[in-house]
Amino acid sequence: MTDHTQAGFHQAATPCGTTEGYMPGFGNDFETEALPGALPQGMNSPQKCNYGLYGEQLSGTAFTAPSHQNERTWCYRIRPSVKHSARYEKIALPYWKTAPHVVEDVISLGQYRWDPVAHSDQPLTWLTGMRTMTTAGDVNTQVGMASHIYLVTASMEDAYFYSADSELLVVPQEGRLRFCTELGIIDLEPKEIAILPRGLLYRVELIDGPARGFVCENYGQKFELPGRGPIGANCMANRRDFKTPVAAFEDREVPSTVTIKWCGQFHETKIGHSPLDVVAWHGNYAPVKYDLRTYCPVGSILFDHPDPSIFTVLTAPSGVPGTANIDFVLFRERWMVMEDTFRPPWYHKNVMSELMGNIYGQYDAKPQGFVPGGMSLHNMMLPHGPDREAFEKASNANLGPDKLDNTMSFMFETRFPQHLTEFAAKEAPLQDDYIDCWTSLEKKFDGTPGRK
Ligand SMILES: [Fe+2]
Repeated sequence: MTDHTQAGFHQAATPCGTTEGYMPGFGNDFETEALPGALPQGMNSPQKCNYGLYGEQLSGTAFTAPSHQNERTWCYRIRPSVKHSARYEKIALPYWKTAPHVVEDVISLGQYRWDPVAHSDQPLTWLTGMRTMTTAGDVNTQVGMASHIYLVTASMEDAYFYSADSELLVVPQEGRLRFCTELGIIDLEPKEIAILPRGLLYRVELIDGPARGFVCENYGQKFELPGRGPIGANCMANRRDFKTPVAAFEDREVPSTVTIKWCGQFHETKIGHSPLDVVAWHGNYAPVKYDLRTYCPVGSILFDHPDPSIFTVLTAPSGVPGTANIDFVLFRERWMVMEDTFRPPWYHKNVMSELMGNIYGQYDAKPQGFVPGGMSLHNMMLPHGPDREAFEKASNANLGPDKLDNTMSFMFETRFPQHLTEFAAKEAPLQDDYIDCWTSLEKKFDGTPGRK
């Protein structure tokens, strides 16, 4: 496609392959305006902004963070954010818990697995439908995470939210959601993920039926793409497949509520208009979505089984090199071709704490019991691995090329122990018999050489 020829050049008419309403790239320095000329050029803070807008900076890192980590966005908005905030009143959202949260009569030491949490009859929004399963670390020192399940049956109406505590990684499992944010609109469906940065204000709407999914709430340093090392410049998650929304704003004068999560507490403030009033913005601190179907898995092509870190989509550093505050790891469709190899995940015991969720299909190490919408937790230094059925099948299979199809599970892995909430231990559908999946693994050793 060309629109004109100039001095022998054929110039592209429009960016190709870009999803309408989104800009491609991870951590790019974007610029976008919903009205022509709303974005100042060549400077951030003109004496007077076009259209009578207010200029405002949203900082995601300390002002003096190293330049390769420094993130901020300049917003040009109808009202500055101080007008989207009045006096605060504390409110209760009893199912949304924050670390440190250690419940005395709940035992977190163990291997746990849950069936999907069912929807209730009552209307639940993004806020009232959030159910914390585990917490780790400490929000006050900005380390650790929480894992949640969301059960959304109602849109937020004239209601808005931001978390000062965390960025949220959203992993839908059922139903579509629309995130109307200060910086643009993200429509999200299963097999996609979204990252909502700390401090970003938004409203969540249902697009069709009820929605259920998983959330990793990251109290620490932001998610970034892992280094690929010898893998090189391609494969795994590629930067171009991340999509950030273009600017979109509302000019609506209507009584509205803004809820803020701050150090684990929730507060409400009343205002007289929609706070989603950013007409134009530029910067690199913005929400983003990513289609998990574009994740290019890399694995073993002759023998043996690499560590699951080979499937890392995003990593949130902890300050200790190579030891993540959180890794987000994806187990998706892939070919298994390894020769003379036990192909499922091996038995292991690990310093990291692994919370898994099933998005769809069947997981290879657990053919039964770990179903779409379900979760499992293998906490710090708790042994786990394939159940008997998976072990016997993998030990006796004819090892031709075999495609693991119809499968998509993920892991929120953290260096910190994960503590169960009361909801996870007592209300959610915990499978009491989960550890029995290893009971029937028999002793095969009898001292005879060559026995297999
Ligand atoms: Fe594991």
